[in-house]
Amino acid sequence: MTAILPHGGTLIQRIVQGEEKHNLLLQAANLRKIKINNWTISDLDLIGVGAFSPLTGFLNEDDYKSVVDDMRLSNGTVWSIPITLAVDKEIADQLSIGEQASLVDERDGVVYAILDVESVYQVDQVYEARQVYKTDDPAHPGVQKLFERPSYYVGGPVKVLNRPKPERFEQFYFDPAETRRIFAEKGWKSVVGFQTRNPVHRAHEYIQKSAMEIVDALFLNPLVGETKSDDVPASVRMKSYLTLLEHYYPQDRTFLGVFPAAMRYAGPREAIFHAIVRKNYGCTHFIVGRDHAGVGEYYGTYEAQQIFSNFTAEELGITPLFFEHSFFCTKCGNMASSKTCPHQSEDHLTLSGTKVRALLRDGVCPPPEFTRPEVAQILIEGMKEQVTI
Ligand code: ADX
Repeated sequence: MTAILPHGGTLIQRIVQGEEKHNLLLQAANLRKIKINNWTISDLDLIGVGAFSPLTGFLNEDDYKSVVDDMRLSNGTVWSIPITLAVDKEIADQLSIGEQASLVDERDGVVYAILDVESVYQVDQVYEARQVYKTDDPAHPGVQKLFERPSYYVGGPVKVLNRPKPERFEQFYFDPAETRRIFAEKGWKSVVGFQTRNPVHRAHEYIQKSAMEIVDALFLNPLVGETKSDDVPASVRMKSYLTLLEHYYPQDRTFLGVFPAAMRYAGPREAIFHAIVRKNYGCTHFIVGRDHAGVGEYYGTYEAQQIFSNFTAEELGITPLFFEHSFFCTKCGNMASSKTCPHQSEDHLTLSGTKVRALLRDGVCPPPEFTRPEVAQILIEGMKEQVTI
């Protein structure tokens, strides 16, 4: 076993099966229904499998306030992103504390869970945005999502009765109990987790492999839940990861599994959240590079690293590995960062995302020092399929 304990000490398991599921589904038919969207279904499932341990449901008011103000649950456990269930005022007015409600898919009515209503509360979303995202600018993709939701939240533990079915790449979906078992079977005592919402370029590869020099293995854990529309679609990214792993990574020291969460773009706070969740999957280390989970100019380059100093190593449990902005240096003839390269920025190969996209759209591979040709080819194909990259 990887020695690392889940966050809060116990891997939460809220998925109900067999006869209990059957009975609860019958019961659910008589309960008040709360319609949930894809994002909430994803949160629910991650609660169900323990990826969000120690959460057993959607945040109650006291935990919500404490997370928003202090990045901790009300019992002091570190938790940086509020995981909440938003409902229309009409539903909020009908619900009473102590009742049960069924959570159903807004599209087809599938019952996903039963929730014990422990709190119903209204929040100040502008305040939440400023605290969590450090901005209330509605142009920020996370803030925009927040403002689209109603401001009434319902908190309480859940029992999950159904799970969303992956549309593709099903073989890369692993629950935390499974990754923990797999890492243990492989004899890995230390595993570094890598979060990404992008194709793996050379800078990502460099920091992953630098980390791999000091741990037993890499858990490449791309986020495949909701992302903003101009991010590379998960289906194209998955192909690029598989190609990269096949050609450039040792198979016995790498493991690919998806993270089916929605991207919040909350920068520093999301880095803490990403680290804690990867601990639940069994990682002992977690990579935080430059502008982790950032978007636009909302966060400082290293803010997502600095935020870790608010917590003790014991409170976090997982060890963050921080990396400087990395690039290919033409004088050094290799990947480097300001920590390892003495040369001027003119010697560093840097390409903006816009430039890379323009090259790929024209069917041109970016320089191999920036993107491996096998990866570039897949991204070019993705472009051809009329996908926005
Ligand atoms: S994220 O939004 O999912 O964090 P991305 O996929 O771009 O974004 O990054 C994945 C990880 O690689 C993050 O920890 C990020 O900080 C890091 N990273 C990305 N590019 C670089 C780079 N050039 N140098 C150092 N770290 C980087």
